Amino acid sequence: MQHRITIEGSSAEFACRGDQSVLDAMAGRSNASIAIGCRSGGCGVCRVQVLSGSYELGVMSIDEVTHECRSKAIVLACRLTPTSDLHLRALGKRVNRCAQLSTAELIRSLTTRSSSQPSSTGTPS
Ligand code: FES
Repeated sequence: MQHRITIEGSSAEFACRGDQSVLDAMAGRSNASIAIGCRSGGCGVCRVQVLSGSYELGVMSIDEVTHECRSKAIVLACRLTPTSDLHLRALGKRVNRCAQLSTAELIRSLTTRSSSQPSSTGTPS
């Protein structure tokens, strides 16, 4: 059975079978809006929040998706299999907290992280 996948703030819309991951269904599309990395639940770049719909999950790194994340429907698209139509919010690797983020919070988070990156790798004394 095929399910419709939509992504907040994006025109991306695609079909995903109930036996494949959202990331696999999206891969190769020109309007892909979820980052693709290891495809095995280990790197976290495909982090999304499920805003609506039902799903099943494969094995994911606990370092990338804690129990708190899962309780807030923050998961990895490469391990996410739909059991209904899904509406998603793409978060990516740079958003490494599990709070439910509004679009404004997400933009502020990304802007702050980009401008506050340390310029050296020295160890604090
Ligand atoms: S692509 Fe690496 S965790 Fe999904």
